[in-house]
Amino acid sequence: MLALFGGPPVRTRPFPAWPVFGTAEEERLIATLRSGLWGRLDGRQVEEFERRFAAMHGCRHGVAVVNGTASLRIALLAAGLRAEDEVIVPPYTFLSTASAVVESNAIPVFADIDLDTFNLDPVAVRAAITPRTRAIVPVHFAGLPADMTALQAIAVEDRLTIVEDAAHAHGASYRGRPAGSLGVMASFSFQSSKNLTSGEGGIVITSDDDLAAACRSIQNCGRVEGGLWYEHHVISGNYRLGEFQGAILNCQLDRLEEQTAARDANGAYLAECLGSVPGVHPQRRTSDCTRHAYHLFMVRLDAAEFGASRNAVVRALEAEGIPCSTGYGFPLPDQPLFRNKAFGPYLPDARQRLDYASVRCPVSDLVCAQSIWLEHPLLLGTRDDMDDVVRAFGKIHRERGRLEAR
Ligand SMILES: Cc1ncc(COP(=O)(O)O)c(C=O)c1O
Repeated sequence: MLALFGGPPVRTRPFPAWPVFGTAEEERLIATLRSGLWGRLDGRQVEEFERRFAAMHGCRHGVAVVNGTASLRIALLAAGLRAEDEVIVPPYTFLSTASAVVESNAIPVFADIDLDTFNLDPVAVRAAITPRTRAIVPVHFAGLPADMTALQAIAVEDRLTIVEDAAHAHGASYRGRPAGSLGVMASFSFQSSKNLTSGEGGIVITSDDDLAAACRSIQNCGRVEGGLWYEHHVISGNYRLGEFQGAILNCQLDRLEEQTAARDANGAYLAECLGSVPGVHPQRRTSDCTRHAYHLFMVRLDAAEFGASRNAVVRALEAEGIPCSTGYGFPLPDQPLFRNKAFGPYLPDARQRLDYASVRCPVSDLVCAQSIWLEHPLLLGTRDDMDDVVRAFGKIHRERGRLEAR
C-alpha cells in the first residue's frame, strides 16, 4: 500500500545531507580567522579561489562577488548594455536571470524553452530578436548545458553578447568544454543550495581582459588597476566576496570533481530507469552534453500518460521517503514584478510600451505544470539509494488508481 495511505514507505533513511564539509573547511576558516585578514582587499583566499575557478574553466579571469545575482548584473553592465537595450532570457528560470537585466536598465525579452531539455529554444530566440537586442543569457538549466552551438551561431550573426547563467552548472561540460567557458562571460552562484557553495557568493569568469577589468572595477567601487584607493571611475558598488567565503570555496572546490562525477553517473542511471515508467519524461540529455551537473534531477510528469496528477505523485513520493518538489509554480513573466512593471527607477520610458501579460511561453507553462524536482544532494547517494527512487516511482505508478487523476 502507498505510504500516503498508511503503507510502509519505500525508504525511511535520509539521503545525503548538504553541504558536505569537514576538517579541511574548519582548518581554513580558523586560519583565516586568526590571520585577521577577513576582507577581499586584505587576504588571499578569494584571490586563490578566483584563480583556481577560472583556470578550471580554461578562462583567464575570475571576479568573485557577493552572489550570483550581482555577478549576472555586473557581467551585463561590463558588456556595455545601454538603457532600453534588449536581452533575451528564458521564462523558466530563477528571478535573477531577468531581474539582473532590469537592474542593468535593460529590457528582458522572454524566449520559450525546449520541452525536452528545459533550456532556451534557439528557434524562439531567433524569433525574439529585434534591432535593440544586445545579449542572450542562456541558463544551463538544472545543470544541462544549453544548445550553445545554435545560440552561438545566432550571436555571431546578430553580434550579440552571450552571458551564460551557469548558476546550476558547476562542473558541467558541453562537447568536452566546461559550461561557463562557452560564452563571452559566465556567471555562477555559490548560494547555499548550489553544487558549489559558500552559503552566499557568485563569480564572473571570462577570458576577455577588458571585460574582466570592467567587472573587477564594478565589483570594487569603480576602482581601476593601478589607480588610487580614492579614485572611482564608473558607477559601481562594493560587491566583493569576503575571505571566509573564499576559504570555504577553496575547500569545496577540492570536493567538486568527485561530487560532480557521482551526480552525473547517478543522474544518468535515474534518467534511464525512470524513462521507462509511463508518463515520466526525464530532462533529455543531448549528445552535446559531455557532463551534466545535475543541480536538479528533473522530470516532466504527464498526468494523462501516468494516470495520476503531478501534485498527487509528488505527495506520494514524499510519503515514500523521496524528497522532491514541484519547482516553479509559473513562468517568470507572470511574476507580479513583470506584470506590474515594478522596476523602481529602471526603464522609466520603456515600461509604457512593455506588456508582460501578453508574453506567450506555452512550453514553460507546461513544464511548470508538469515538473518534478529532485535536488542534487540526493544524487550524492549510492546506487541503492537511486534504486529506492526508482522503486518509489514504480510503486506509485502501480498503485496510481488510488491517487487523484488531476
Ligand atoms: C538560474 C539562476 N540564476 C541566478 C541565480 C542567482 O544566484 P544567487 O542566489 O546567488 O543570487 C540563481 C539562484 O538561485 C539561479 O538559480
